Amino acid sequence: MTRPSFRFPDGFHWGAATSAYQIEGSPLADGAGPSIWQRFAHTPGMMVNGDTGDVACDHYRRYKGDVQLMKALGLQGYRFSINWARVLPEGIGRVNPQGLDFYSRLVDELLENGIVPNATLFHWDLPAALDDRGGWLNRDIAHWFAEYAEVMFKALDDRVPRWATLNEPWVVTDGGYLHGALAPGHRSKYEAPIAAHNLMRASGAGIQAYRAHGRHEIGVVFNIEPKYPHSDSAEDLAATRRAHAYMNEQFADPALLGSYPPELKEIFGEAWPDFPEDDFKLTNQKVDFVGINYYTRAVVKHDANAYPLKAVPVRQPNKTYTETGWEVFEQGLTDTLTWFKDRYGDIPLYITENGSAFYDPPVAENGELDDPLRTNYLRKHLKALHKAIGAGVNLKGYYAWSLLDNLEWSLGFSKRFGLYHVDFATQQRTPKATAKLYARVIESNGAVLDD
Ligand code: BGC
Repeated sequence: MTRPSFRFPDGFHWGAATSAYQIEGSPLADGAGPSIWQRFAHTPGMMVNGDTGDVACDHYRRYKGDVQLMKALGLQGYRFSINWARVLPEGIGRVNPQGLDFYSRLVDELLENGIVPNATLFHWDLPAALDDRGGWLNRDIAHWFAEYAEVMFKALDDRVPRWATLNEPWVVTDGGYLHGALAPGHRSKYEAPIAAHNLMRASGAGIQAYRAHGRHEIGVVFNIEPKYPHSDSAEDLAATRRAHAYMNEQFADPALLGSYPPELKEIFGEAWPDFPEDDFKLTNQKVDFVGINYYTRAVVKHDANAYPLKAVPVRQPNKTYTETGWEVFEQGLTDTLTWFKDRYGDIPLYITENGSAFYDPPVAENGELDDPLRTNYLRKHLKALHKAIGAGVNLKGYYAWSLLDNLEWSLGFSKRFGLYHVDFATQQRTPKATAKLYARVIESNGAVLDD
């Protein structure tokens, strides 16, 4: 009997991802406006160790060297995000040519090195000037976002073939508007569904702008975390449904089906607004692809005291957990992809993020850094991905999170997800063993996983 081969389909696209505030540094350079993350990080008590994105990986100044790191891995694609306030310091109106120029130079550098740029318009760093006008709670934000998107499409669509409107709208609303651990740090169950709805209206308006000004591909990126019941009691099953509707369907449904799942009304109660029916025409635009960020799963049980879901995750015994407290569960990646196809149809999919934070030892004297837990995570998840393709999922590519160790939002530099280790005192980059495996995966189109 021959062993199954993990060779991926011809043309499968291999990349790595980052985001602006997490790596760029120089957040106010060359006329950029402040973002909500600039404000949040500079508010005492919000960030672990008082870390900020002031320098981060200094990518704003070191981007050419970073493109060489990508090239050394053999990356075919690079997914990055644009800091809206670099380009439009007030969020709308006046364009800052120097901000635009940075992204233009980055794109040229990628193309010169044979790497396909994949740009995300919004990865959480909302211009502070727009937050002052209500941010995601203001319905006008759909138009503000479309105006910004149009500026970017006109400037870069000649060279950027793949765009995403938003990265992980769930995190924006859950962390930024419901629980307050992320910018802008609000805690309101009355605000969270409104912010979520306006994010999806903005995404729709951005896609509409693309149809008028762009000629390649546009999609949206969701974090999907599959939910499994702790027991088959009716209470646990209902709690699992609620958790799934809240985290996964709340965003993908309005975008791809033009509706909300009924559980949201149950979860938010009197705080759930009756959104105008017409809004769903805006949210429900045709996408060219969907990006899925997959990290972990949750096993869910009913808990009457858990606000507002009445559901809590249950830690699994004898399982490996990452430093961010996430269970390593690769079957969830296969399940997520097949669920997505069953519910939303045969849309081309990319894994736009997948990765793990583990404690890394210091770089050894011979310059090597062994990160066996991360290497194992990568291997297992690529095999799970291969299984999903075998099950008929239309999967086009994979982007590892992340190219570099970077600012893990309010957790600061305490969690490392990088393929490259970054020494934040010297800005020295060192490939971890996982980076070396990934380079071999790319070179062999997955066949190295057979070993
Ligand atoms: C985000 C990244 C983040 C990563 C690890 C995703 O939620 O898109 O910005 O660093 O997961 O937490």
